[in-house]
Amino acid sequence: MTTMTTAPIENPLRAGMRLQRTPDACAVVVFGATGDLTARKLMPALYNLARERSLPGGFSIVGYARRDWSDEQFRAAMKEGVTKYSREPIDESLWESFARELHYVPGNFDDAEAYTRLADRLGKQDAAHGAGGNRLFYLATPPTAYAPIAEHLGAAGLARPADGWARLVVEKPFGRDLASARALDQELGTVFRERQIYRIDHYLGKETVQNIMVFRFSNGIFEPIWNRRYVDNVQVSVAETVGVEGRGGYYEESGALRDMVQNHLMQVLALVAMEPVASFQGDAVRDEKAKVFHAIRPIDDITRDTVRAQYRAGAIFGKDVPGYREEEGVAPDSNTDTYAAMKLEIENWRWSGVPFYLRVGKRLPKRATEVAITFNRAPLQLFRQMGGDNPTPNLLVLRIQPDEGISLRFGAKVPGTRSDVRPVNMDFRYGNSFGVDPPEAYERLLLDAMLGDSTLFTRWDGVEAAWELLTPVIDSWAGGDSPMQFYDAGSWGPEAAKHLIERDGREWHRM
Ligand code: BG6
Repeated sequence: MTTMTTAPIENPLRAGMRLQRTPDACAVVVFGATGDLTARKLMPALYNLARERSLPGGFSIVGYARRDWSDEQFRAAMKEGVTKYSREPIDESLWESFARELHYVPGNFDDAEAYTRLADRLGKQDAAHGAGGNRLFYLATPPTAYAPIAEHLGAAGLARPADGWARLVVEKPFGRDLASARALDQELGTVFRERQIYRIDHYLGKETVQNIMVFRFSNGIFEPIWNRRYVDNVQVSVAETVGVEGRGGYYEESGALRDMVQNHLMQVLALVAMEPVASFQGDAVRDEKAKVFHAIRPIDDITRDTVRAQYRAGAIFGKDVPGYREEEGVAPDSNTDTYAAMKLEIENWRWSGVPFYLRVGKRLPKRATEVAITFNRAPLQLFRQMGGDNPTPNLLVLRIQPDEGISLRFGAKVPGTRSDVRPVNMDFRYGNSFGVDPPEAYERLLLDAMLGDSTLFTRWDGVEAAWELLTPVIDSWAGGDSPMQFYDAGSWGPEAAKHLIERDGREWHRM
């Protein structure tokens, strides 16, 4: 008896999906190497890049932090992190070869002598590996350490090497308002040039955020309707079920506006609103995003057009959770926002008159990040006259996470002898179509930084413009102009956020 074997069916959408770019030999130096971000995000990302064979020969990692660890202790801690957080299970033999290139230098961030030791160590590694003096300095530290580290790197001769390149990757937050962001920019600028500075916004590393550009600019049918003539309003929403997860100390200093709106939401908004670029080379994308930021009208009535709120105790997925003020590290009378909503207007030819509504909150009933674009209704309500329903407007939803995809809502005739119209969806799901997990944002961003491609990093003018827009809101909120609203954990936020949009005869898209 013969058995028929069928060749595995190749998914054509997966063709060419392997990462193919390899950077120069280099060392990645992680400041704050014993911290949470390194174990949770950076090391798993670097490990997965190694797994994908995207790291160059002569690659090494040097961890730098206060703890007096040996190379071995550092390797053991990183292995634990990768085992716990890597998107792919750890492979022992791959780990062994990866771990051989992990090194550790103990030192305080303001200890000049420790930077000399770091420079020596890097010099020795260069000699051993032929890394050519290329270094990526990653600041996974509290922001107060950014300026001192940069200064010491400069003093140790590491910032402007004669051979090879030096780049500085800076985590958020970049400042806490316009004045502090400008001061930080100046401090870093005395040591590093703008083109050496890579400001991370991990939303830009998300596949689906990048897909906003692909969707808009590689399809012919959407761009002609992507403007005020066809779009009624745009909503960018980020809902999280988590609370502050032990980060009460950080969050008290931050709040939703600084933690999410100034960076992640503004970046997503810019990608939705920007003009097409002629190429993806160099600064083209960042130039267009900067134009969007500069075209956003300053919010003239902050009390009317913004909402700040904080969660009270409630229940998420049937489990009781404490209110924000009961969280560890949070003042019992805290006035920190865990929810923010606002209405913005972009004053340019494309968007004039189209409101952009933003909302973000912790302890909401669902985790979801979405951009919802509502189009104008059909000019004639034809089917109402024939006894049908009033058609709902077309809605395009870009689902950034977790159920990544895109859906388009349109009206369809309900089968039967009447002309009833119901909204239905055309739905694209990443998982179904491509059948692979997208890489983590940090994988893409670390690789790009090693490659010297800063397209997906924020540039100073964009960061500054976002602070220019939002600092008056921060100041007004701090001055008590917009009263703090409260919402139950597990609800969709405060009533005031509903009013913000209902006042305009619209409603929040249901996520
Ligand atoms: C971080 C914020 O930048 O983004 C966190 O500091 C937030 O408060 C997180 O939870 C959300 O990221 P993601 O990738 O889970 O949407």
